[in-house]
Parts: sequence; structure tokens; C-alpha cells
Amino acid sequence: MHNLGLTLFFILFSIANETLCASLDLAHPLNDRTFNNGIIRSYAYPDTTSLNDTCPDAEVIYPCVCSCVAEEHSIDLDCSLLMSEDQLKNVFLNLSSTVKHIRRFYMYDDQHIRVLRYGVFRNVSFNEIYMGKGYMEEVERGVLEESQETLQRMIFNDNLITKFPFEDIETFSNLRYININRNNISEISNLESSSLKELYIGHNPLVELQEDVFRGLTSIEKIELGNIGLTNIHPGIFSNLTELFAIHLDNNHLQHILSGALSGGLANLKYINLWQNDIDIVELGAVQAVEGQQLYLTFNNLELIEEDVWRPNFEAGFRMVEIGRNPLACGCDIAWLVRDPSFVDQLGEEARCANGNFIQNLNPDDFINC
Ligand SMILES: *[C@@H]1O[C@H](CO)[C@@H](O)[C@H](O)[C@H]1NC(C)=O
Ligand SMILES: *[C@@H]1O[C@H](CO)[C@@H](O)[C@H](O)[C@H]1NC(C)=O
Ligand SMILES: *[C@@H]1O[C@H](CO)[C@@H](O)[C@H](O)[C@H]1NC(C)=O
Ligand SMILES: *[C@@H]1O[C@H](CO)[C@@H](O)[C@H](O)[C@H]1NC(C)=O
Ligand SMILES: *[C@@H]1O[C@H](CO)[C@@H](O)[C@H](O)[C@H]1NC(C)=O
Repeated sequence: MHNLGLTLFFILFSIANETLCASLDLAHPLNDRTFNNGIIRSYAYPDTTSLNDTCPDAEVIYPCVCSCVAEEHSIDLDCSLLMSEDQLKNVFLNLSSTVKHIRRFYMYDDQHIRVLRYGVFRNVSFNEIYMGKGYMEEVERGVLEESQETLQRMIFNDNLITKFPFEDIETFSNLRYININRNNISEISNLESSSLKELYIGHNPLVELQEDVFRGLTSIEKIELGNIGLTNIHPGIFSNLTELFAIHLDNNHLQHILSGALSGGLANLKYINLWQNDIDIVELGAVQAVEGQQLYLTFNNLELIEEDVWRPNFEAGFRMVEIGRNPLACGCDIAWLVRDPSFVDQLGEEARCANGNFIQNLNPDDFINC
């Protein structure tokens, strides 16, 4: 009796499990736009009513592994164990007759795919491509053309990519996130996207960025540009990116921050990381004054904190969170700052003069002759 009950349970359970992935419940919250108020996800999920998103038989897609994502009526595919580009091609040849859409394609720590070739995915579309840590050198144009309406995340960090299809970005109407950190990209064409929110392209030998490269990223919130060998920020390069919230420019070779470099309609810019550059001059109007903004300047060459340059930022209520490891002269240039305890509070705790004194401990009376 007991055994029969258990067997029945397993049979029922496995039937339920198998059909869950294919069955489509139209009342599901993810298919209900009123539920998508931007907190859970603010994009409309593609219409999956006509899709057959059941996992194919395991041997048909071997060595890839398919799993059901029941709550999203979709499937994920993990191809981390592939041995060649041909194998990838054959797997999609096999599965594309029954599968139209994959939520997440995953391939991690692969050593065999050098070029992601046009046509390899046939007519299959994706929401997310995770191909981090591998030996990829090129992603061909159009390889994700079937995903123009569905693609949200492209992750290719830690590869050897020199050629990336930046021109395709504007064709993905729901793309939110690109991570191509730690590759070998030395050139980037002007980017266009009204949906992209996060761009990670740090640790690439870019060296230079053209003035209008980000101008078309009208919804961008975060840009990672650390470790790219950058020597100069073109004034206006970030101008009018009104949603821009965080920018990482650490570990570059910046020296003079010119007027307009980090200003011009950047009312939401709350986080600027300039750690470990060679900055010795910040011009008047270089950094937009924004309330609550946090500026990180540790390990640079600043000697002065001039009143005309920085007072507007302090008055707006920004914080020079980290200013340690700079050869600050602490002469008359900072008299205005030392005289205002609230300004001193807006400095990080590591704020020291070149002689080792903490700015917090300086006596305003010592600046009486300034
Ligand atoms: C869905 O795919 C399975 C094989 O994975 C196939 O047997 C079935 O006929 C397909 N259903 C439809 C409606 O295409
Ligand atoms: C494609 O599927 C057939 C069985 O339908 C299988 O013999 C073949 O190995 C599969 N190809 C790949 C690359 O998995
Ligand atoms: C994808 O295209 C092939 C022909 O190239 C076709 O046989 C197959 O039905 C298509 N798959 C879907 C899911 O539409
Ligand atoms: C990076 O790209 C350059 C060409 O732009 C090439 O000469 C170099 O070998 C690449 N480096 C690696 C590690 O692939
Ligand atoms: C920013 O927008 C203003 C007003 O629309 C415009 O005059 C200015 O040229 C723009 N600046 C840049 C760098 O695009």
C-alpha cells in the first residue's frame, strides 16, 4: 500500500513537472502588464502563447543541459561542457525545430568557442546570454538578431574579445545590461540604445573615448570605465545623460579633469569613482554639483582644494568621501573649507595634508592670515 502510494505520487509529480514548463497560464502575474509596475520587471515579457518551451530530450542537446523555468514558462540552457564550435552549431540545429525561445543561455569557463558565429543560434531567441570567462575573440554581427525584442542581458566578461557588435545594440529594444569587462576591446563605436541601463566595459585597452560615444544611451544609469588606460575625459562626453547615477573611472591615467568632463545635465550623478589616477587639476565646472553625490579621489596628485572649484559642490551637499593619499598642501586654498565645520564633515575621514595632519584637526585660527 505504502509503496504504491509513493509510486503514484512520483508518477503524478513527474507528469506535473513535465507539463508545467510547457503549459501557459495567461493569468500568470508575469504576463499581466498591470503587475509589471517596474518593481518586479518593467518590460513586457514576450508573448509565449505560441511557443513550445518544453525541454528537448537530453540526448538531442547533449552535452548541453536544459532546465525548465516553470514560473516563466520557459527553459534555460547550460552549454558549459561543449567541446567545439561545431557542437554548439549542432545542438541548435537539433533543438531549433522544437524550441523557439530560451530564457537564459549559459556557458561559463568554456575554452573552445573563439568566434560566436552569425547563424549559430538559428531561429532561437533569448532573454539573457551568459558567456563569461572563456576564450572568445569575436562576437559576429547579427548573431542575436532573433532576440531583437527579447534580449535583456548580454554577459561576455573575462574573454579575449577584440570584435564586438556594438552596432547591433540599438536593434535590441529591451536590452538593459551589457557586461564586457575584462576583454581586449580597443575600439568602440557610438552606442545607441534607449533601453540600456548598465554598461560594464572596464579592463579593456580602450585608451581613448570619442566625445559622442555614449550620447545615444539615453537611459543609462551606470557606466564602468575602470582600468581602460584613459588619459582624458572629453568635456561633454557624459552631458545630458540625465539618468546617469554612477560612473567608475578608477585606475586610469587621468591628470587634468577639464571643465564639462563630469557635468552638463547630470542631475542624478550620485557616485563618481576616480580612485588611483594621476589627477592634479580639477577645473572649475568639471564635476556637476549634486546633492548627496559621493566622490572618490583616493590615490591621486591633488595639492589644492580651491574654493572656486569646489564650493558649489560642498554647498550642494556632496561628499568628498575619499580624498586620502593626495599630497594636499593645506595652505590658504583650504581656509574656506576649514572655517566651515559642515564642509569639514563632508570630507572623508582619511582627509590628510601632505605633512600627515588630518584636515579635521586643523585649527581655523591658523588660517587667520589667509
Ligand atoms: C513540443 O516539443 C515536443 C518535443 O520536445 C514535441 O513532441 C511536441 O509535438 C511539440 N509541441 C508542439 C505544439 O509543437
Ligand atoms: C542531435 O540529435 C540526434 C538524435 O535526435 C543525436 O543523435 C545527435 O547526437 C544530436 N546532435 C548533437 C550535436 O547533440
Ligand atoms: C526554425 O527554423 C526551421 C527551419 O530553418 C524550422 O524547421 C523550425 O520549425 C523553426 N523553428 C521554430 C520553433 O519556429
Ligand atoms: C588583443 O588584441 C590585439 C589586437 O588588437 C592583439 O594583437 C593581441 O594579441 C590581443 N591580446 C590577447 C591577449 O588576445
Ligand atoms: C544638452 O542638451 C542641451 C539642451 O537640449 C543642448 O543645448 C546641448 O547641446 C546638449 N549638450 C550635448 C553635449 O549634447
